[in-house]
Amino acid sequence: MPSERPKIAFAITGASGALYAVRTLAELMARGIHVEVVISDYGRRLLRDELGDEATVEKLLPYLAGKYGDKVNAGYLTAHSNRDLGATIASGSHNCSAMAIVPCSMKTLAGIAHGLSRNLVERAADVMLKERRRLVIVPRETPMSLPALRNMVLCAEAGAMIVPAMPAFYQQPRSLDDLADFMAGKILSALGLEHTLYPAWTGKVESDRSS
Ligand SMILES: Cc1cc2nc3c(=O)[nH]c(=O)nc-3n(C[C@H](O)[C@H](O)[C@H](O)COP(=O)(O)O)c2cc1C
Repeated sequence: MPSERPKIAFAITGASGALYAVRTLAELMARGIHVEVVISDYGRRLLRDELGDEATVEKLLPYLAGKYGDKVNAGYLTAHSNRDLGATIASGSHNCSAMAIVPCSMKTLAGIAHGLSRNLVERAADVMLKERRRLVIVPRETPMSLPALRNMVLCAEAGAMIVPAMPAFYQQPRSLDDLADFMAGKILSALGLEHTLYPAWTGKVESDRSS
């Protein structure tokens, strides 16, 4: 029953990094969460361009199960139209506890920073801010313009957590999936969820390791 599960809103917009989105989504689903997904038009294009025809919105669940295993079926996925401003997550009365935008384009970032609510992604994000719930924004662009930098500050001041798509290398990644694991772990942490997607920094330097 979806109503008894914890609910998290999850948006995918048209910035590079579809692998981060599907990895994070799979982890949320594996926890039995009801994930309310909204994908912008360019987010849809991103999924197809970066992950192929098997990762279209319509085939997202089988794609996740094929890549990350049947454990993703523990969750419940609802897909909302980005044009539907009457969807559940558009209202503060809906008990969705948090939202992540992975990845977040500079355009959507600007819309959130200025409270525009032009579509469901921006409105659901605005709901999180006004209700003082967790909003995790994962921007991706480089280099960053001054307006983009200022928009991140505006969102952070309004209460959002800015988690740039910047994987680390201390965990010695060997594959793109390792990098995606790191980012998904950072996003889960920002959402207040425990995980083992990357090793915690032990504080040991190289000379300690060999002794
Ligand atoms: C292949 C491709 C890659 C893109 N990568 C980025 C990116 O990394 N960051 C970004 O801010 N915009 C990027 N864009 C531009 C956005 O997709 C564009 O501004 C779009 O209007 C964003 O709309 P949305 O936020 O509603 O998805 C990219 C566009 C394309 C087609």
